[in-house]
Amino acid sequence: MKLSPVIACLAAGLLTGGRAASQPASLPTLKSAFRHAFRVGAALNAPQFAEQNTQALNLITNQFNTISPENVLKWEPIHPAPDRFNFDEADQYVEFGRKYGMFIVGHNLIWQYQTPAWVFQDAKGGVITRDALLQRMHDHILAVVGRYKGRIGGWDVVNEALNDDGSLRQSHWMQIIGPDYLVKAYQWAHEADPTVELYYNDYSMENPEKRAGAVALIKTLQSNGVNLAAVGLQGHYKMDWPTPGQIDDTIDTFAALGVKVMITELDLDLLRPSNRTADLSQMDADAQNANDPYANGLPDSVQQELASRYAELFKVFLRHKGTITRVTFWGVGDGDSWLNRGRHNYPLLFDRHYQPKPAFDTVIALAH
Ligand code: XIL
Repeated sequence: MKLSPVIACLAAGLLTGGRAASQPASLPTLKSAFRHAFRVGAALNAPQFAEQNTQALNLITNQFNTISPENVLKWEPIHPAPDRFNFDEADQYVEFGRKYGMFIVGHNLIWQYQTPAWVFQDAKGGVITRDALLQRMHDHILAVVGRYKGRIGGWDVVNEALNDDGSLRQSHWMQIIGPDYLVKAYQWAHEADPTVELYYNDYSMENPEKRAGAVALIKTLQSNGVNLAAVGLQGHYKMDWPTPGQIDDTIDTFAALGVKVMITELDLDLLRPSNRTADLSQMDADAQNANDPYANGLPDSVQQELASRYAELFKVFLRHKGTITRVTFWGVGDGDSWLNRGRHNYPLLFDRHYQPKPAFDTVIALAH
């Protein structure tokens, strides 16, 4: 009988007194299984990169070779007031990555969420002028990218600039500055660290209308001299969306523009319907008064469906290994995930005790 890699490890663990089951070090690892294809990473929260979450620590350092900051590099935590930066947690995050030899991602510089209201206000609380907002954007980008120059390998410079129909989102950035905020943000990030990789990151680009908007955006950046290294597909997926064909087409479309593709925030939402997007305000609205069907655990049948869906996704990613540079999960264990919102979601490869799920097994098996 041929044992799957995980089962084989667990069986070996039983023979040696059960140690393997409790020691993630003896599991096959994602980073080595996919080393010839792409990096594999996870978004970390503060207790994880501060090494306070000792349960997760071995798993993180063994399984992943790239990390993303779930929140600590966003404007709100790092730059809470006009003259005040708070770099403590961000420094810890970067130090963690260096200590364990990880490729360190910066997320993000310009976004419509998790940006304090003061950014868009003048001293009297009115709407700030275009020039003053450009100055603020410049100073923020120079300070943050400059601080981690040579240590952070790539930045999500602008996050989620597009509407679902492919038009530019009417964020405060867009309303006050106009569409050239995009090119400026990339130019300043490059000025702050000329060797750092610059990314554009968004969700739902697997849908043709939004993808067309992304293509136009990327072409605008390129025609203005921006050297865009890669586009990030967030990968906040559902069981039935997007189809493998949609992902294939999306990756091919971006590759044809001469940019790499990264899966930057991978998870599988079992609770929300497939037509609901990863927009943060939609996520909050959906969590209100919603039921919690898997509060007592995930039925085996659904666990198996999740494993099959993960296998289906990684087959697509492997088909495009020449274009895809990394696959990053948005969290380490199911308990960490932003998709819970007070409910019980099961979106990742490791469970609430940081043990591998059947989906881990199916994904690892694909690499062999
Ligand atoms: C999420 C974090 O996971 C949450 O902890 C936070 O409350 C809200 O933001 N798209 C992104 C990420 O680009 O930054 C978001 O992260 C998830 C959606």
